[in-house]
Amino acid sequence: MRDLKIDQAAGLRRLGARRNAKVIAITGGKGGVGKTLTAVNLGAALAGLGRSTMLLDADLGMANVDVLLGLRARLNLEHVVNGECGLEDVVLNAPSGLRIVPASSGSFNMATLGRAQHAGLIHAFSELLEPLDVLLVDTGAGVGEGVVTFAEAAQRVVVLVCDEPASLTDAYGLIKVLARRRPGCKFEIVANMVETPAQGRELYDKLMRVCHRFLGITPSYFGYVPNDDYLRQAIRAQATVVEAFPGSPSARAFQRLALAADGWTPPVQASGGVEFFVERLVGRESPRAVGAQ
Ligand SMILES: Nc1ncnc2c1ncn2[C@@H]1O[C@H](COP(=O)(O)OP(=O)(O)OP(=O)(O)O)[C@@H](O)[C@H]1O
Ligand SMILES: [Mg+2]
Repeated sequence: MRDLKIDQAAGLRRLGARRNAKVIAITGGKGGVGKTLTAVNLGAALAGLGRSTMLLDADLGMANVDVLLGLRARLNLEHVVNGECGLEDVVLNAPSGLRIVPASSGSFNMATLGRAQHAGLIHAFSELLEPLDVLLVDTGAGVGEGVVTFAEAAQRVVVLVCDEPASLTDAYGLIKVLARRRPGCKFEIVANMVETPAQGRELYDKLMRVCHRFLGITPSYFGYVPNDDYLRQAIRAQATVVEAFPGSPSARAFQRLALAADGWTPPVQASGGVEFFVERLVGRESPRAVGAQ
């Protein structure tokens, strides 16, 4: 037990010595609102800006970042936390320069990891060969423990919404859960599949008003992504639209989002960056069961 504590402390110290990466969760409450597409395209656009960017596929039920990009994942984070391989062994390199870490084989449950696995996770991230500027975390749908654990560990939570009543109510439900569990959590709203920029603003205003009124918080407007057939073509080609059709409306939108995210100040506190994220992921006092609310 004592050795494990030493391992964890040493891992955390190594992480602390690195640049403080921005850790951004991509979430949304409702299924199919464009979380994964936003994660891979924002990631590719950030990599295009020269930022060292990693995408953690934390959709534990239906991990599909690798499929979306035509990559084949043999190993995942579960092998890493079990000490079967190092993090660099599971990293997939996308053509854009974005690096992908597949999290799950379907049975992975962060809430039930033991102490040795916690230490393994911290150690794995501290061993990364290249320091990160940005760690994006693609979460699944819903407000179950598997989603909330990852989202509340991030510094910023990007919430995807589209113009459907269920999308707005699910996004609000997720923000409510996260704001209660982590007061001060920073929310960034993306309006996806919009027909006009004004429609994006309207969607944001609707969500912002209910958050302000009932939760006393004001999420920021990150931006919009238009409904774009080029994006669907890119999916069929297992490519990012940012690379396949860089001049298309959605690619330009993702480039704007990347520029905006690039302007966010990185965490300055000693416990910032990936260290902060991993610490939050594994450091909870009383792990709860997946799905428990
Ligand atoms: N801006 C857009 N323009 C056109 N189609 C889009 C756009 N955004 C999303 N889609 C469509 O929505 C589908 C779902 O997108 P995506 O897989 O990113 O959603 P998700 O929120 O990650 O879903 P899940 O909850 O299942 O993880 C895409 O396959 C695509 O067909
Ligand atoms: Mg998804």
